Amino acid sequence: MEGTKHDGWASRWGMILAMAGSAVGLGNFLRFPVQASQNGGGAFIIPYLVSLVILGIPLMWMEWAMGRYGGAFTRGSLPSVFHLLWPRRVAKYLGGIGILLTFVVSVYYVYIESWSLAYSFFALTGRFERITEHTQMASFLKGFQGLERNEFFQGGGWAYFFLLVTLVINLWILSRGISKGIEWFSKLAMPLLFFMGLVLVVRVFSLGSPFRPDWNLNAALGFLWNPDFKALTNPGVWLAAAGQVFFTLSLGWGQILTYATYLHKNDDIALSGLTAVSLNEACEVILGASIGIIAAYLFFGPQMTVEIAKGGSFDLGFVSMPVIFTQIPAGRLFAFFWFLLLFFAGITSSIALIQPSVHFLASAFDMDSTRASSIVGVVMFACVQPVYFFLGKGYLDELDFIAGTMGIVFFGLIEVVLFVWVFGANRAWKEITRDNDIAVPSFFKPLLTWVTPVALLVLLLAWCVKEAPAFLFFEGIPKEHIGTRWAARAFVLVMFSVICVLIKLKKERLTQMTALEVPE
Ligand code: TRP
Repeated sequence: MEGTKHDGWASRWGMILAMAGSAVGLGNFLRFPVQASQNGGGAFIIPYLVSLVILGIPLMWMEWAMGRYGGAFTRGSLPSVFHLLWPRRVAKYLGGIGILLTFVVSVYYVYIESWSLAYSFFALTGRFERITEHTQMASFLKGFQGLERNEFFQGGGWAYFFLLVTLVINLWILSRGISKGIEWFSKLAMPLLFFMGLVLVVRVFSLGSPFRPDWNLNAALGFLWNPDFKALTNPGVWLAAAGQVFFTLSLGWGQILTYATYLHKNDDIALSGLTAVSLNEACEVILGASIGIIAAYLFFGPQMTVEIAKGGSFDLGFVSMPVIFTQIPAGRLFAFFWFLLLFFAGITSSIALIQPSVHFLASAFDMDSTRASSIVGVVMFACVQPVYFFLGKGYLDELDFIAGTMGIVFFGLIEVVLFVWVFGANRAWKEITRDNDIAVPSFFKPLLTWVTPVALLVLLLAWCVKEAPAFLFFEGIPKEHIGTRWAARAFVLVMFSVICVLIKLKKERLTQMTALEVPE
C-alpha cells in the first residue's frame, strides 16, 4: 500500500506531459483529420471549437478538480472519489463504470497501437518498401492482421507477437508506478513525438505537387479548411465534433480524474489543465491535420482522398501513408517516424487507459503497483484474445461503440451531475477555483452549472435517437457478425460484474478519511 499511497507526480512538467500524453493519441493523427474531412471540412472547426469551450475545457477542469479533491482525501480510485462526492453506496458502483470504460477501450486500443509498433519495424526493415499500390498495401495490412494469407504474410503471427510485446511494455511501465513509470516515460516520449510530428509536417509541406500541378499544398489545405457553412445546420456534424472533443481530450472516462488524484492538495489545476488541453490541440489541429490527409491529397487527389477518409482512420494511417512513403526519397526513415509517432501517441494513451484498473486494484486491495499491474496484465492478456481472433467480425467495433461512443457521454454526464448538482455547484466552483496560478473566468460558473450538463444531456439524447435503433436491432450488421457482437456485449457485462464484486469486497475505507478536513 505504501507504494501506491505515497507515489505521485515528481514534477509539474512531468505531470502535464503525462496528462497531455493521455490526450494526444491515435485520435489526433488518425481520427481528427478523417472526422474533419467527412464533416464539412473547414466548417467542422466551428462546432469543434464551440464544443471545446462549452464541453471540453469545463469538463477538463472538473475532472482535474474532482481528482485533486478526491486524491487529497482518499488517495483512492474512482469508486472512492465518487463516494466522497456523494456518500451513498451506489456512487461507488457508478465510479466503477469509469474503470469499466477505460479497461474495455484499453483492450482494443493496445491492439491497434501494436500495429504501429509492427509497422515501424517493417518500415525500418523495408518490408513494404516496394509496394506502390493501394490495393497491395491493403492486402499487406490484411495479411498482417491474419485476415488472409497472401504473398506478404502466411498468417497473423507477427501481429500476435507485436501485440504481446506492446502489452508487456505497457504493463512494465505501469508496474514502475507513477513517477518512475508513467511520468518518466511521458517525459521521454512526448518531446520525441512533438519532434517527429514537426519533421513530418515539414516533409509533407515541402512535397510540392508530386503528381499533378493542381494537387498542391494550397488545394490540399483548402480541402480540409475551406468552410462549408451548410454543414453547420446538420446536427450530425455537431455530434461528430462534440464526440471528437471528448475522444481527443480523454474526457468522460474518469481517466483524467484518476491521474489528477496524484496531485497534491494545493496544486494548481487551472493552468496545468489548460496547458494539457493546449498541447493536445496543437497536436490535433496543427500536427494531426497537417500530415495524413494533406499527404493523401497531394498524392492521390481530392476524389481518392474522400474515398480514403470514408475508409476510416486505419486506411489513412496504415494503407495510404505507407504507399506515399515508399515513393519519396528517404521514405524508410519517414515511414519509421510516422509509425513510431503513432506508437508513442498510442502508448502514452494506453498506459493512461490501463492505469485506472491498476490504481483500483492497488488502492482497494493494498497491493504495490508491480503486483497490481501483473494481475491486470494477465486479465488483459485473456481479454485481447477475442479482439485478435475476431478481428473483422465486428467485435472490436462493438466494444468501441459501447465504451468509446455511448459510454463516454453517459459517464461524462454522471460526472458532471455528481460534481455540480449533487456535490453542489458552489462547492464545485470553490474546488475548481482554489489554489490556482491563473483565475478561472467567472463566466465559467454558469457554463459549468447549466450549459455543460444540458449540452451533455442533449448530446446523449441525440445520440440515443441516432444510434439506438442500429444498436438494438443490429441495423447494417452482417448476419454472421451478430454472434461476435453479442460476445462483445457479454464481455462488457461480465467485466462490469467483476468490477462490482471487487468494489463490494474492497478494503478501501473512505468515509473515515473523509472525516479529515474536507474543505467546505
Ligand atoms: N485521447 C486519446 C486519443 O486521442 C484516446 C482516449 C480516449 C483516451 N479516452 C481516453 C486515452 C482515456 C486515455 C484515456 O487517441
